[in-house]
Amino acid sequence: MKPVEMASDWESARKLPTRAEAKRRDNVFAGQSVVENALFAGVEVIRVSAWPKGHNAPPHSYAIVHAVSPGLVEDANVPYEEEPWPDDMDDELEGPERRVEQSNQDLAREFADVIEDGQWQEVVDPILPLKLEWQQSSETCWQFFFDLAPGARCLGLGERNSSLNLRSSSHTLFNTDNHLHIESMDSMYKSIPFLIIEQGEHFIGLFLDSPARQRWDLDSLITSQASIELLSRRGWQLYCIGPSTLPNIVKTFTTLTGRAKLPPMWAIGHQQCRWSYPDQETVIRIAHEFRQRRIPCDGIVLDIDYMDDYRVFTSSAERFPDFKDLISDLSRNNFKVTAIIDPGVKEDSKYFVYTDGVKHDYFCKTGDDKVFIGEVWPGRSAFPDFLKQEVRMWWAAQHGFHTENGIAGIWNDMNEPAIFKNQEPLAWDADQLPADDDQLFMQETPEGRIGHFEVRNLYGSMMSRSSFEGMLALRPNQRPFVLTRSGYAGVQRYAAVWLGDNMSWWHHLSRSIPMLLNMGMSGVAFSGVDIGGFGHNCSGELLTRWYALGMFYPFFRNHCWMKGDAQEPWAFGPVVEAHCKKFIETRYRLLPYIYSLFWENSRSGAPLMRPMAWHYPEDQFARELDDQFLFGENLLVAPIVERGRTWRSVYLPEGLWHPFEGGEPLQGGQVYKIQWNLDAIPVFVKDGSLIPMSDVIQSTEDYARAPITFHCFGKSGRGVFFEDDGNSLDYENGDYNEWRLKVDDGQLIAQPVELGFDSRRKDFRLLYNGKAESVTLSIS
Ligand code: GLC
Repeated sequence: MKPVEMASDWESARKLPTRAEAKRRDNVFAGQSVVENALFAGVEVIRVSAWPKGHNAPPHSYAIVHAVSPGLVEDANVPYEEEPWPDDMDDELEGPERRVEQSNQDLAREFADVIEDGQWQEVVDPILPLKLEWQQSSETCWQFFFDLAPGARCLGLGERNSSLNLRSSSHTLFNTDNHLHIESMDSMYKSIPFLIIEQGEHFIGLFLDSPARQRWDLDSLITSQASIELLSRRGWQLYCIGPSTLPNIVKTFTTLTGRAKLPPMWAIGHQQCRWSYPDQETVIRIAHEFRQRRIPCDGIVLDIDYMDDYRVFTSSAERFPDFKDLISDLSRNNFKVTAIIDPGVKEDSKYFVYTDGVKHDYFCKTGDDKVFIGEVWPGRSAFPDFLKQEVRMWWAAQHGFHTENGIAGIWNDMNEPAIFKNQEPLAWDADQLPADDDQLFMQETPEGRIGHFEVRNLYGSMMSRSSFEGMLALRPNQRPFVLTRSGYAGVQRYAAVWLGDNMSWWHHLSRSIPMLLNMGMSGVAFSGVDIGGFGHNCSGELLTRWYALGMFYPFFRNHCWMKGDAQEPWAFGPVVEAHCKKFIETRYRLLPYIYSLFWENSRSGAPLMRPMAWHYPEDQFARELDDQFLFGENLLVAPIVERGRTWRSVYLPEGLWHPFEGGEPLQGGQVYKIQWNLDAIPVFVKDGSLIPMSDVIQSTEDYARAPITFHCFGKSGRGVFFEDDGNSLDYENGDYNEWRLKVDDGQLIAQPVELGFDSRRKDFRLLYNGKAESVTLSIS
């Protein structure tokens, strides 16, 4: 969001040159390139590394955490151990595939060499998938071309304001404060250049690792041709992953770019925010309302007005005079507080963060070596260069202000970075990069100083890395919770994301499904959108339907701006409140299932929200749907996302499906007309599922003591139950319990996979055929 007019409120993509047109250009600037391949637990990956004349290696990657070849610049800055490739991963794969076995000619390639797991080796005379080619067409422009077979679908590519299939449109990847959220202005806050191409039942991933501006044209001329234009003077690395199954492609991509740790339990509870709750009295009142109305809530989020005139790492003495007491009061009532931190540091010679930053040369500088100043909330502000490790460490240390005051979570906003009057710093139709010193400011990389546009897409990721590492260092062994608006591939290692300033529009409610599905396939599972919509005014019906869907967003937060009407769950009277309360309670009841899904995500990269093709790749009909999705393998969520409607069609894939709230199961393989009243939970459960559910609790503080019911949907059921302390990193050393559960003929059989956690929980029940009875979890 920004208060001033933008230079242009819409863009229309410049047509990129086609393969045929581009071939006529000379390859005058091309330097060297090398093609290597490797196997990652059975999935083949080809890597192309390219760098122009005058360089001797591709640039350092901030995205890749695994298997960086010797010879490339290693990330000497990683202060903590990145997750190694686990030895047991091979066993988990569903049928490792060899590409050469595929019948599809386009996919078939041969490799003379035997390749080893995770070891790159050079390929002589490679044949790349999708007829992939590239060239450098001018000093600052690279072009890539690949074929898209008729019917092939395009998924992923990070945050796209689009339906699920991205094909036949073009997409700009250049981080932008896109508060309009309209399709004609397609750059968004995050850029994740990872595309998944679905061809029949096979999937191929393409990851173009460069944080400079990219445009992907995914066959907008409907000639089965796709192209990418990259504006960069440096080199890049391109990874082709697969073909394989969709889960294996995402697993391999997140092996390369890293996975998220488990979130702290409280961060997957319900959170409430507003720009802004203006003073401490209002915050107390809001928290009190939740408890008094018995609407579960775990988090209160403080927007920019808690600060002293928007100076980061301060609080306002007038409006929040008892800041520390406020946070501890809230904490006594089981609320965790998350506070916003923007990157812009107010230019003020009496402000320690600014003076310290200037003294140590921590801010981004212009080409002529002056501190770059741009305007954001605090007025004239300087911007830390988060690409430098010493800057990240300095910024990380400032978070002591927050931890000393008891703040639990950090919200990084405006970190594209947003700069008023300069939200689109590179003209939307530019086909060249300006000179380095004419790109707003310069930044430091391992290869030296370069213009900001070359690395712009990293700014938010590296800021959230600093917050993440700061919180981890300041509260050792506690899982950090960081939320970021901007990011690049690999951002999942540091932060959860939300998709920025949506509107209280029905269209943005329905859009949130494909947008979050594509985020999940781009490696970022812990994501959500502002429930109720950020801008404009919400209505009671919209809020009700938004919670009915939003209870399945991995990140579950109600947020809106100050100009519109309030939209806390009680803001529209008792009827809406009762419905919203029911949905929020359902979220808490499902916490054991949701937490197990986060556990799965931390190990395999599998998102919580999954497109139908994730589990039903052979179902031609299912995979085109993006108004319904799978939440884990067992729940199918099909909400109403239009005003005034109570009916919708729902497609159930093969098998039997049970309405979540009870009733006769329906046979899959067909479309049903389903009535969802305003209080309905719009979910079907796959027959044979055993869903662990908690009793309703008011916050996750009570989770460890809450009874757990294993709800069997069908005559028999299978499920997983994961538990640990919900807050520390001890699970990384085996301090957790993971049970594989099975119910046959009403008998529960529990098999431990790991029993490292000393659980105090005793109260377990099995709900079978409508009857609940106590059970024990013991080694059978
Ligand atoms: C940006 C954020 C929004 C926040 C506002 C004020 O617009 O996207 O969530 O409320 O800034 O900080």
